[in-house]
Amino acid sequence: MTAGTGELTFDHLLGLEGMDQTRITALLDLSQRMKEIGERPLKKVPSLRGKTVCFFFVEPSTRTKMSFGVAAKRLSADTMSLTASGSSLKKGETLLDTAMNLQAMGPDILVIRHRAAGAPHFLSKHLSASIVNAGDGRHEHPTQALLDMLTIRERLGRLEGLNVAIIGDIANSRVARSNIFGLTTMGANVRLSGPATMIPKGIDQLGATVVPSIEDATDGADVVMMLRIQKERMGSDLFPSDREYHRQFGLTKDRLRNAKPNVIVMHPGPINRGVEITPEVADGPNSVILDQVTNGVAVRMAVLYVLAHRTGGAK
Ligand code: CP
Repeated sequence: MTAGTGELTFDHLLGLEGMDQTRITALLDLSQRMKEIGERPLKKVPSLRGKTVCFFFVEPSTRTKMSFGVAAKRLSADTMSLTASGSSLKKGETLLDTAMNLQAMGPDILVIRHRAAGAPHFLSKHLSASIVNAGDGRHEHPTQALLDMLTIRERLGRLEGLNVAIIGDIANSRVARSNIFGLTTMGANVRLSGPATMIPKGIDQLGATVVPSIEDATDGADVVMMLRIQKERMGSDLFPSDREYHRQFGLTKDRLRNAKPNVIVMHPGPINRGVEITPEVADGPNSVILDQVTNGVAVRMAVLYVLAHRTGGAK
């Protein structure tokens, strides 16, 4: 792979807040080129030969962890992996001590998921490796938003001017926050809806519009993005029951009728089937949920490529 990184030189990928249109576009363009590698009979290039990528997942993950792993292998990087349950975090070692010990083994890039917002930012101040935020608490999940934008652009040809409805547990969603940053920067109109208890105060100041009902959100929508209810982040119940939630905010075939005819339906996964979305819609003709997963590999290849070829040191 001989993709030039051009304006894409950066030391860490911590979030999409503050990332400008030129950089997002360049990352999406590079991801599109990376995707082509995954479509070849021999899905491997030597671009990251001799580089080591460390995966440090302190929260569970299927899609993000596996796709970063596939991305690193397609670029010929060496990998090392640590999860919370199998680590000395269980014996009381601190996050920083754990990370410094991983650093001592010489990884070039450290991909971290952590329940605490800001954990990747904290490590980026102490480690010389490039840090990638693979999801930090309720804060950001930048590669998810990039793969979502790649999927939208691929299906609908653009991001600017599109009506994107993001529906559900906005309060607990790092996916929503990263998408609000990315999509509004790219000129999309973002509408948010969910139970009042799941709409954080001041979220509209990020450039999105809050609307009261799912019908208001989906009206004329080009994209409907459903969010998982994140019970693991709720101190107490934010809605009476799953059935009640589904009745008010679940995406059904009927509720999709007021969207544009070629609307695409997205979900970052994992899905609570029958709660935020019916199986009929999740698996239906408008769904691009598995395309999102495929595009996740391409986006993560692009991010690893850029960080491995950065010109300056991370510190
Ligand atoms: N979308 C997402 O982050 O999925 P995982 O939690 O399975 O990585």
